Amino acid sequence: MFRKVYFSSKTLLYWIPVIFVVSLSCKSEEVKLDEIAFAGKQLTTAFQEIEQVRHNFPELVSPRSLRSDTLFMVKARDWTSGFFPGNLWWMYEATGEDFWKAKAMEFTAPLEVMKDFKGTHDLGFIFYCSFGKGYQLTGNEHYKAVMLEAADALISRYNEKVKAIRSWDHNTDKWQFPVIIDNMMNLEFLFWATKVTGDSTYYNIADTHAETTLANHFRDDFSSYHVIDYDTLTGEVKKKNTHQGYSHESSWSRGQAWGLYGFVMCYRETGKEKYLEMAEKIANLMLEHPNMPDDLIPYWDYDAPDIPNAPRDASAAAIMASAMFELSSYLSGDDLSYSQVADKVLDNLTSKYRSRLGENKGFILDHSTGHLPGKHEVDVPLVYADYYYLEALQRRKELKFTSELKFY
Ligand code: GLY
Repeated sequence: MFRKVYFSSKTLLYWIPVIFVVSLSCKSEEVKLDEIAFAGKQLTTAFQEIEQVRHNFPELVSPRSLRSDTLFMVKARDWTSGFFPGNLWWMYEATGEDFWKAKAMEFTAPLEVMKDFKGTHDLGFIFYCSFGKGYQLTGNEHYKAVMLEAADALISRYNEKVKAIRSWDHNTDKWQFPVIIDNMMNLEFLFWATKVTGDSTYYNIADTHAETTLANHFRDDFSSYHVIDYDTLTGEVKKKNTHQGYSHESSWSRGQAWGLYGFVMCYRETGKEKYLEMAEKIANLMLEHPNMPDDLIPYWDYDAPDIPNAPRDASAAAIMASAMFELSSYLSGDDLSYSQVADKVLDNLTSKYRSRLGENKGFILDHSTGHLPGKHEVDVPLVYADYYYLEALQRRKELKFTSELKFY
């Protein structure tokens, strides 16, 4: 039973100014902090929240989102488990402080159990964002060894007939060999594996997967399908579907962002002009889309029926901004406007889509949408929105100070 609390008008007169002054001082602290300092404060709040959850559920390794206003944490097996350690590595890169390195190492270590898991394509997300960032920043040989085992597990999902890496093993009643646009993001890990081993197998699989995606995932207007189902006997496309988008023919916003990021990265790694051209076409589709809002934070699906009241997806915006910084670095003249777009997206994320200081269990951004058709993670913080936001901030800094991006 909740006890009713009655305030006398005298008590209220006392508390209203106090509440006003406290909220003003929180707001002014928020305004004074730069983006990285703000992120540091939020992540410090996250550590306390994580501690409480892990007290009862020690098998949970990383925060993913909020569910019913409580912190939702995941096991190493979840596709998002690498992003939180990744956020801590971004903090270490941005600040050079050993505190963040120690925290990043602490949250990276529990993911090692996944290194020989062959049941998902998400090994790129899981390992490249955690062990991968750690290896880039520390040169830790153990991280490299773990990642190479994981890269072998990932290529075990490659099918010669389909010429792609299988994404999911679930929904076997619906799809025989599903490949999702998100899978483009796992290829960076394979390009890296060839660079450190000299074994071209990883590169060839990554490049072939990108070619297959280029051939089959896109519509005439350069928007992409989410899921392409292949026939493993013939290699032919069986179905073009969605899973997280509004409909099979709609443009799911995060999917467009994964495609953009994936093809810019594949251009970087292969030098193939057609990948750069595809990236530009995807970027233009987004920017010229009649349903792209003025603040450039996409609705969760460009074809959501309830636009302009549809939820936004800050994660799609963060991925898009990060990719557009990279895209701008390969272009010249007018095309540099992609970096101005990315700037605007970052500024809007910071000013309008961020959590309030100390709130949202330490997530940095709010207002992302994970899986609206599945009725979960709608208009909430998502750990990967924070990851690509931090990456985009780092990219903006590098472009400003050195006019080029650092890659490993
Ligand atoms: N890769 C899953 C998602 O973007 O939701």
